Amino acid sequence: MLMFIENLTKEYNRQTVLKDLNFSICEGEVLGLVGESGCGKSTLAKLIGRFEKPSRGNIYFRNKNIYSLPKEDLKSFRRGCQMVFQDNLASLNPGMKIMSKLKEPLVNNADLNTREQEERIRKELDRVHLKEDVLSSFRSASVVVSGSVLIFAEPC
Ligand SMILES: Nc1ncnc2c1ncn2[C@@H]1O[C@H](COP(=O)(O)OP(=O)(O)OP(=O)(O)O)[C@@H](O)[C@H]1O
Ligand SMILES: [Mg+2]
Repeated sequence: MLMFIENLTKEYNRQTVLKDLNFSICEGEVLGLVGESGCGKSTLAKLIGRFEKPSRGNIYFRNKNIYSLPKEDLKSFRRGCQMVFQDNLASLNPGMKIMSKLKEPLVNNADLNTREQEERIRKELDRVHLKEDVLSSFRSASVVVSGSVLIFAEPC
């Protein structure tokens, strides 16, 4: 079991946004969540990403409660469960060059030295047919459109 959601409830002030939600996701399973605007899809994503806390209920990732993880397990949770934001452009720091943006997840999550990080980035750029000269630019559009947000979606 990859993720197990148990009696999840989220209230904002007196408004109940999610009520007693229960479901599970197996390894390799793809789950699509569909619902009208305001039904709580983003709220659920924020709870799963630990950006918000539930009012009641729990979320287990690989059998561990994500709200009571010790520090060492938190890093591995962050590696295994990540957000791809709707507005990719807004989620990238415009003050950072493309190389630094792509390096950031490797610095935080992978056990690689600087040379290995840059090799990995060049390999991934090649995989999505981007030229190396984008690395020294600030422009994110070409990288986002080419799907670089997914480059580091798999565990490093
Ligand atoms: N931080 C907050 N404080 C108070 N109410 C909130 C907060 N975040 C979300 N809500 C309310 O929770 C409800 C669900 O919002 P949510 O953004 O999760 O919906 P959604 O399904 O993602 O909608 P959409 O399809 O428009 O993105 C809405 O009524 C929203 O106003
Ligand atoms: Mg939403």
